[in-house]
Amino acid sequence: MSGAIALRLLRLFDAETAHRLTIRALACGLGPRDKRADPPELAVELFGLRFPNPIGLAAGFDKNAEVPDAMLALGLGFVEVGTVTPRPQSGNPKPRIFRLEEDRAVINRLGFNNEGMERAAIRLRYRQGRPGIVGVNIGANKDASDRISDYVAAFRRLAGLASYVTINISSPNTPGLRGLQDRENLEELVRRVLDARGEAGLRAPVLVKVAPDLDAEARAAIAEIALTEAIDGLIATNTTVSRPSTLKSKHAVQAGGLSGKPLFAPSTEVLKDLYRLTRGKTPLIGVGGISSGADAYAKIRAGASAVQLYTALAYDGARLVRTIKHDLAECLRKDGLRNVMDAIGKDAVPY
Ligand SMILES: Cc1cc2nc3c(=O)[nH]c(=O)nc-3n(C[C@H](O)[C@H](O)[C@H](O)COP(=O)(O)O)c2cc1C
Repeated sequence: MSGAIALRLLRLFDAETAHRLTIRALACGLGPRDKRADPPELAVELFGLRFPNPIGLAAGFDKNAEVPDAMLALGLGFVEVGTVTPRPQSGNPKPRIFRLEEDRAVINRLGFNNEGMERAAIRLRYRQGRPGIVGVNIGANKDASDRISDYVAAFRRLAGLASYVTINISSPNTPGLRGLQDRENLEELVRRVLDARGEAGLRAPVLVKVAPDLDAEARAAIAEIALTEAIDGLIATNTTVSRPSTLKSKHAVQAGGLSGKPLFAPSTEVLKDLYRLTRGKTPLIGVGGISSGADAYAKIRAGASAVQLYTALAYDGARLVRTIKHDLAECLRKDGLRNVMDAIGKDAVPY
């Protein structure tokens, strides 16, 4: 079955059923493969890891670490699984994913539905020794009495099985979670996770994923903590709770986090600001609304060392990965740059 027909058939189902079927097909080895080697100019060194290309899968697609290798086989440079919480949880009532077709966007209010860290650990252990960068994104259970302890528990269980760990404190769908982005909370959270890393003798890079809805004060605090606590990287951004006035779809009124095209500009603005505030010293991963090679290039020029995407893959299918890589390499060539790393921060505001 061609990718285009498969995609059209999937549109017959509601968004969550289509997603479940896609994961099942990928787990059965039915995913397409990009066997061509990446252009050498796309290779990136980051956190002591060598990324064959800087295009990654954002968290939320493979919440339970079921198909990281199938996603790497599509030609992605890295895959982030999760969000994984210590205990399994079912998330919010359905329906909880809405396609805003006219806006090339999605609103989700899943609420960290996942099978818990033990299942994720089993799957990640099974793939140990395979090539490819697989990060794990961790979160707290909705009913946790001590949320920070949940992050520490998930970190202890999963950090030894992943290429890097992302602390997700920016999902809008777990009430109160984003309060962990406040200065004192974030300081404590980061310290406790980094202490746990030291105690366990682990080396996994620790990244923090932030929201696009942060004011200037919150951005400055996060950048300061990133520098003083030596966080390995920041991921900017998660979905937004704002609703741009340009949205056309009737689903725009749904509660949850908005992703896709309308998120591109606000998330790139936060990325650029974080690059300036961290003086280019903290590696940034840019995510939000990427659907072309030019978009990926713009994020890199705004300060990203690598990028991730999710929503555009749901609209355009797996072939998009190949197109983005090809077009990104073209952008570099046109600007006379030899490697993607030479483009990082070129459009950023001087610090
Ligand atoms: C259905 C859905 C589920 C998501 N789940 C998670 C999640 O579990 N953890 C997380 O950090 N981000 C999650 N995200 C956010 C994405 O990782 C990403 O930050 C956001 O969608 C912006 O990228 P995009 O515009 O390319 O989709 C989710 C996004 C979508 C659309």
